[in-house]
Amino acid sequence: MTRLHDKRAIVTGAAGGIGAATARRLAQEGARLFLVDRDPAVATLATELGAGHAVADVSDEAATEAFVAKAVSALGGLDVYVANAGMEGHVHPLVEITQADFDRVVAVNVRSVWLGIKHAVPHLAQTRGNLVATSSVAGVIGSAGLGPYVASKHAVLGLVKTAAVEYGAKGVRINAVCPGPIENRMMRSIEEQASPGAPQAVHDGFTHLVPLGRYGTNEEIAAAIAFLASDDASYCTGTALVVDGGFVAG
Ligand SMILES: NC(=O)c1ccc[n+]([C@@H]2O[C@H](COP(=O)([O-])OP(=O)(O)OC[C@H]3O[C@@H](n4cnc5c(N)ncnc54)[C@H](O)[C@@H]3O)[C@@H](O)[C@H]2O)c1
Repeated sequence: MTRLHDKRAIVTGAAGGIGAATARRLAQEGARLFLVDRDPAVATLATELGAGHAVADVSDEAATEAFVAKAVSALGGLDVYVANAGMEGHVHPLVEITQADFDRVVAVNVRSVWLGIKHAVPHLAQTRGNLVATSSVAGVIGSAGLGPYVASKHAVLGLVKTAAVEYGAKGVRINAVCPGPIENRMMRSIEEQASPGAPQAVHDGFTHLVPLGRYGTNEEIAAAIAFLASDDASYCTGTALVVDGGFVAG
């Protein structure tokens, strides 16, 4: 499939499960890539895919401005920005969360999406491009122990809807994908934190809540992001595409 032939895309969080799968999927569909992560391992995937890369903190404005400029210079423009980097934070009831933990999760998960919009949209407006942010089912419903994460993912949808309204007239589409539980490092961390030494019980509990009876894969989320990034989604903006095996339908 070459839906994204010669499209120029930035993917953040590209060293992680969903981000790496998304980078691979966009490359398979013909995109040229610039990969971003705070984890230096992003360089290995960039080499594999012939992509540019930056090791950077997406919650930092100067860093974001710099990697967007570097990507635009390397790729010759920008058609797609995938604001995917994120963190789960600590699993605690709301009354036990520290201000530092709360602020860090909001900075990484929310400020980063706003910064992506702020610095990428001027370039996307030149190409009638689009931005896809990774929210979560935690952007749609609550989840005990994940207060800052849930609040942050709801806020991502607020930014996406606002940006869609502000930039629709310029032909820029802004959408979100809302994954359910995915078989990767982030869910392993949440499971272990929620039930130290017995994470399988948490895995079984989440699985029981999914009508399709399983966690999703990184590749299933990458496919949804590729759809939103492509012209197949040409009439989608301000939307939150839930990809969760039916989790929030129940
Ligand atoms: N795993 C799930 O079940 C799930 C479900 C819903 C939504 N999500 C969301 O999907 C996105 C990708 O997560 P994942 O599941 O691939 O987990 P992951 O931990 O494998 O990937 C997250 C990546 O983001 C990077 N990152 C974190 N903070 C950063 C920062 N400040 N600057 C730059 N990079 C940073 C990490 O280094 C990592 O490579 C996240 O936004 C996450 O909240 C995940």
